[in-house]
Amino acid sequence: MKNEINIFAPATIANVSCGFDVLGLCLDTVGDTMTIRKTNEKGVRITKLTGQDLPMETEKNVAGVAAMAMLEALPEVDFGIEIDIHKKIKAGSGIGSSAASSAGTVVAINKLLGEPFTPLQLIQFAMQGEKLASGTAHADNVAPAIMGGFTLVRSYDPLDVISIHTPSDLVATVIHPQIEVKTEDSRAVLKGQVSLKKAIKQWGNVGGLISGLYTEDYDLISRSLHDEIVEPTRAILIPGFDQVKNASIEAGALGSGISGSGPSIFALSRGMETAKKVAVAMEDVYKNIGVDYDIHVSELNPIGVKTI
Ligand code: HSE
Repeated sequence: MKNEINIFAPATIANVSCGFDVLGLCLDTVGDTMTIRKTNEKGVRITKLTGQDLPMETEKNVAGVAAMAMLEALPEVDFGIEIDIHKKIKAGSGIGSSAASSAGTVVAINKLLGEPFTPLQLIQFAMQGEKLASGTAHADNVAPAIMGGFTLVRSYDPLDVISIHTPSDLVATVIHPQIEVKTEDSRAVLKGQVSLKKAIKQWGNVGGLISGLYTEDYDLISRSLHDEIVEPTRAILIPGFDQVKNASIEAGALGSGISGSGPSIFALSRGMETAKKVAVAMEDVYKNIGVDYDIHVSELNPIGVKTI
């Protein structure tokens, strides 16, 4: 069995408009790289961390916390784990930076151990990293990072996560205005109550989106990519949100919304050509209003964390 593994830990888009805390999807070309190795010295250590200014102490690092949760579940651990993290995903960008580190770690350790844990167990370990990062053990970024494609957290208690059919024509465009929004802060602005009227619209859209994905009905996907509940409150935290969203839809996107807790804005399009046009339209908005940005155009990744 190998003692060291190199992996690509993908970025993810959580919520996907109508599915706050339950829907997520996995990106293909945006992500971190990591090296995880087994060592004789027991315990978990973060041995390298490049690309972002994040804590290296094991118990303050999401990868460290996820790894510790995993090792605690093993009856007789007689080895340790070292983790090198090379961050390409910016923290606080809304495309699952912490989730990539947690998910990458647990998938890699599982491979080093001969895959004793199920994807659901891996998600539970990785959720400990999310709890450290945002105060809430949400699974809508770690689930797609671990399982690939679209995922649905049908229930948190007990945890029940479902892989959803992911049409291969779907391409994501994500623009990241260069501000940091902490998930914890972006959750704090949300109201605790939802009106029945809004809830009815929202669960209609969740069902419509899932059905549209399975039947590859792009019009239905498009009609369902709306968020009645969270987006109106969070949009005010994001410069030019309405303009970027409208421009992406005018350029041909099926739908657009806040990626995870923001500030990134995503759009889903049918085909690469449209996704690239959407990217130009989004960029034009930020060029006009003078906001610096990063932009990504990515197909969806059907398998999640990859060995490289
Ligand atoms: N569902 C989470 C939220 C995702 O929107 O707060 C955070 O990336």
